[in-house]
Formats: sequence, structure tokens, C-alpha cells
Amino acid sequence: IKITIIDREGVEHQIDAPTDMAMNLMEVVRSYELAPEGTIGICGGMAMCASCQCYVLSNTELPEMQDDEEAMLAEAFYVEDNSRLSCQIPMLPEMEGLKVKLAPES
Ligand code: FES
Repeated sequence: IKITIIDREGVEHQIDAPTDMAMNLMEVVRSYELAPEGTIGICGGMAMCASCQCYVLSNTELPEMQDDEEAMLAEAFYVEDNSRLSCQIPMLPEMEGLKVKLAPES
């Protein structure tokens, strides 16, 4: 699926993200090296670090937040109404057109 990721420098990247590899959005960001190594996905996608926080800019329907994601975002910095942890967003076919911006490093 085609998605857009705006990196922390404000550069927009159009990505062709696979939906058949059970990847989440944090892993997509990492595999395309859109954030420096060691600054995203620090907890390995366990909703325990918030290094993968992003802001959802499209009105794409996403899976609802689970308690652990909600709890982590309640403690994180730079949180906005549209904040999500990208490691909790699986890449699914219906997310074509998703657009997110990576939150600042914290
Ligand atoms: Fe740690 Fe997403 S990678 S919360």
C-alpha cells in the first residue's frame, strides 16, 4: 500500500509498504531508515517506550488503541490528539493513503 511518512526533519516520503509481512508502521519506518538507528522502536514494539510516536494526518481508519498504548501515550512527551504509537499500527490493505508524521525524538 502507498503511505506517506513525514520524517523528523519534515521531509515527506512516499512509501510502498507491504501488507503481507505482518509488519507494523514502526518497522516500516525502520526498514526505510526514515529515523536514525536507535531513535525509534527502542522497546522493540512493546508499547513501552514511545520512541515510535507519530501523528496521524489522514483520516484513515486505524485499529483502536489498546490499554498499553493509551497508558504509554499518557506519559509520553509531545503528545497530541492524533498521536499513536506506530508499533501498534499493523500494515493492512485498508490503510492505503495513510499519512503520518514522526513525533520529535524524546
Ligand atoms: Fe516502543 Fe513503539 S517501539 S512504544
